[in-house]
Amino acid sequence: MNITNKTVLITGGGSGIGFEIAKLLSEKGNKVIITGRSEARLQKAAAQLNNVSVIAADITNETAVEKLVTQIKQEYGKLDILINNAGNAYAYNLAKEGNTFQKAKEEFETNLFSILRLTDKLLPVLSAQTEGAIVNVSSVVAFVPAGDISTYSASKAALHSYTQSLRHALQKTAIKVFELMPPLVNTEFSKDIGGENGIHPNVVAEGLIDALEKDEYEIHIGNTAYVYQLSLSSPAEAFNLMNQRGEA
Ligand SMILES: NC(=O)c1ccc[n+]([C@@H]2O[C@H](COP(=O)([O-])OP(=O)(O)OC[C@H]3O[C@@H](n4cnc5c(N)ncnc54)[C@H](OP(=O)(O)O)[C@@H]3O)[C@@H](O)[C@H]2O)c1
Repeated sequence: MNITNKTVLITGGGSGIGFEIAKLLSEKGNKVIITGRSEARLQKAAAQLNNVSVIAADITNETAVEKLVTQIKQEYGKLDILINNAGNAYAYNLAKEGNTFQKAKEEFETNLFSILRLTDKLLPVLSAQTEGAIVNVSSVVAFVPAGDISTYSASKAALHSYTQSLRHALQKTAIKVFELMPPLVNTEFSKDIGGENGIHPNVVAEGLIDALEKDEYEIHIGNTAYVYQLSLSSPAEAFNLMNQRGEA
């Protein structure tokens, strides 16, 4: 698809992968709106970029999401690309720690239910364009779970499943549905799971840009491609590979 002169919303665009995507898309002549809970973080990010504006919102909060959608309609009049990138994870051991329900509830709230709601609310806006896109940021753990982020893995597997269905449901429309599936990436988010060994978030953003331009819908960045192939040929080996780190 063409990715210039678009209006783009990136959730979690103030840091990590979302920030790098905002940087590349703004450099390509798009109008980029970044959202997140911390206004200060968003302002600091936007100050480093051109053509990037800020709307603070907690995507798990329905009222905040209503306001976000209204503001986009009123101030920008359109939206071409929605990038559902904000995510939440707990690193913990299922066998040792309790409170799995509460942790999983929060993870699913951010990583699945908020995405369903925001997508529902923005679909009519995206549909008004001749070419639009939704990008859901899942993970390699959508294919093979990692035991130290087990319920997070489950939430990303659910997001993967939903994304496949959404792509199918929208196949006869002008909205293209992409799924960005990074391996371990060195961001704030992954510091409890060895993120310093991960790839730079800029590599993920470059992979997304390339895939958007080529209309490659399921985007296996770096090691994700290998894990995916292994999960098909030998699920047990893929599981072992993903769980070599040991438990949190
Ligand atoms: N890092 C990895 O190894 C890795 C690997 C695969 C997939 N991913 C996925 O990549 C995505 C981006 O993660 P990242 O690594 O770039 O982490 P990050 O730098 O921590 O970014 C996450 C962003 O999400 C925002 N956010 C979190 N909860 C939110 C909420 N309720 N409402 C609005 N914004 C919220 C955060 O901003 P505020 O705190 O200000 O709200 C933050 O800017 C996530 O979906 C993650 O699951 C990451």
